[in-house]
Amino acid sequence: MKIRTFLLTCSLIAPAFSLHADEDTPLEKQMQIMARGMKQLSGQINDPAKQESTVTLIETLKKAASNSKGWDPRKTASIPQADREKFLTAYKGQIDKLSEAFNQIEEAVKGNKYDQAKALLATIGSIKKEGHSKFQQD
Ligand code: HEM
Repeated sequence: MKIRTFLLTCSLIAPAFSLHADEDTPLEKQMQIMARGMKQLSGQINDPAKQESTVTLIETLKKAASNSKGWDPRKTASIPQADREKFLTAYKGQIDKLSEAFNQIEEAVKGNKYDQAKALLATIGSIKKEGHSKFQQD
């Protein structure tokens, strides 16, 4: 009887643990906001009629980038303790590059330089690629 109770308890607890492991990290949530925002941004960046909405969208992207700086990537746990500070400083530096690129795009849009803004989108792509290759867990 005791064994049956034990097995029943395990079967109830185990899914709760696996659900927890699958949950999005706060950093993943910010990344998802950026992914959605970037999709929308690339569709409207050179549309002068949408200038105001584009600026609002870039503000949202900047907020998500700034929030991302406050969370350590999952990969941090697999970095030896002695190297963690260096790893996190490099991660935050890469997020700063992203924020700076958003600032430049915002300035271009506000200055009606839509072609320049569109060209700057490519820099976001390479900053993202480098960020993921260095800081995202395999
Ligand atoms: C606009 C640019 C970016 C976009 C659209 C983007 C998008 C994403 C997406 C869709 C994910 C997966 C989220 C999930 O699993 O639900 C992700 C994960 C991740 N991204 Fe980005 N990303 C961007 C820039 C960056 C940059 C610059 C860095 C590094 C400085 C970075 C670091 C990471 C990390 C570390 C993860 C894994 C999350 C974790 O460890 O908790 N991303 N990103």
